Amino acid sequence: MDPDLAPEQDPPIGFAPPYIDEATIAAVERVLRSGWITTGPETASFERELASFIGCTQVVCGGSWTGLAGVVLDWFGVGPGDEVILPAYTYCATANVVLHRGAHPVLVDLPPAADRDGLNITWDMVAPLLTSRTKVVMPVDIGGWPILNGDWKGALEVWSRESGFTSDHPVQSLLGRPLLLADAAHALGAQIDGQQAGSQADISIFSFHAVKNLTTAEGGAAALSLPASFHAEEVQRTLKSLCLHGQSKDAAAKFKSSGTGGWRYDVTRPGYKCNMTDIQAAMGRVALERYPEDLAHRNALADAYDQGLAEIQHVASPVRSDDRRRSADHLYVVQLSALLCSHRDAIMGHLGTAGIATNVHFPPLPTLSAYRERGYDPADTPESVDAYAGAISLPIHRQMSTRDVQRVCRTLAQAISTVISTGTK
Ligand SMILES: Cc1ncc(COP(=O)(O)O)c(C=O)c1O
Repeated sequence: MDPDLAPEQDPPIGFAPPYIDEATIAAVERVLRSGWITTGPETASFERELASFIGCTQVVCGGSWTGLAGVVLDWFGVGPGDEVILPAYTYCATANVVLHRGAHPVLVDLPPAADRDGLNITWDMVAPLLTSRTKVVMPVDIGGWPILNGDWKGALEVWSRESGFTSDHPVQSLLGRPLLLADAAHALGAQIDGQQAGSQADISIFSFHAVKNLTTAEGGAAALSLPASFHAEEVQRTLKSLCLHGQSKDAAAKFKSSGTGGWRYDVTRPGYKCNMTDIQAAMGRVALERYPEDLAHRNALADAYDQGLAEIQHVASPVRSDDRRRSADHLYVVQLSALLCSHRDAIMGHLGTAGIATNVHFPPLPTLSAYRERGYDPADTPESVDAYAGAISLPIHRQMSTRDVQRVCRTLAQAISTVISTGTK
């Protein structure tokens, strides 16, 4: 057919392309021209601005969620023989960092469908798994739905008093209970009782990976809300130093006073290399300033999905708010009814042909080879496997409009009726 006569194709809808506006480009250019591109004043400003946004005492920025989580587990003295409780239904990073420390990830299943809290684990599923070897509990706000609406810290204190927390490290002794380390990779901007997610756990780590609500290409931030027995600024200094080989000074501090012997530094323990650069921080500062607007846009898209999908049979929308919580709407994960689970790939294929990108979050950890080889069995986390079988993440991002959402809903409805009538798998 003559291309000029072909019917106009709707433009493709990507899954989560980054939103890079002119202000972001200008901020990066400013840093590139400044003569200082690695960790320095931009990163320090971004840390202060994030702490104020989240409402926590201190923030440490790093090169990724993964890098920061490794640093925090190291600081807390987690190692071989220790157990870390985390969901089976999460991204592999949550558990990989535990394996990197030689410790054992204890996987929590989702509750049965009737008792589910979105795709999050619940305290009731965690409590029976606590043992004298538990050093850390790592809940995840899947899709941005904030998990910590109960007093998990208080519950861990009670458990530790009654069952006896075993410490083999000075930081563990100071806390006197397992660390509550939130995997808040998806949760920036989620709210609980009007407070931002990120101040409920001892430490909450956010991801600023390219597909996240706020991105610095790669990057992350650890928000500290430790008990008063900890000196927050000292912990921040230690974690920052562990992000940079354990050096007592970063490059900017050494450079500033190099002529007066300030170049000298010590390495107090072998740290990692996962500091944030000022280029990343410049992107993050622009995105944080714009974040309320970006989040409102996401919320409006998710509202439009709720409305559009209410008309479609066999598809359930995610939970996004209740009387205390509001999601960050990072992912919009729908659940197909049991009838359609075996048709998921065909439905996603239909959407793909129509130019609509979708994804699946997440294959439960025991279904992945690295975990199966370590003895994890999908049969031990049946509810996670069940939730995964019907999950499709629909696109949601700043460049989409509510008209795009209506198009996705229409195409999804067509895909479902096609697979039901043809039986395509
Ligand atoms: C739940 C969860 N945790 C951790 C991570 C790791 O984040 P990063 O890529 O910043 O290391 C991700 C990344 O997608 C994630 O989805």
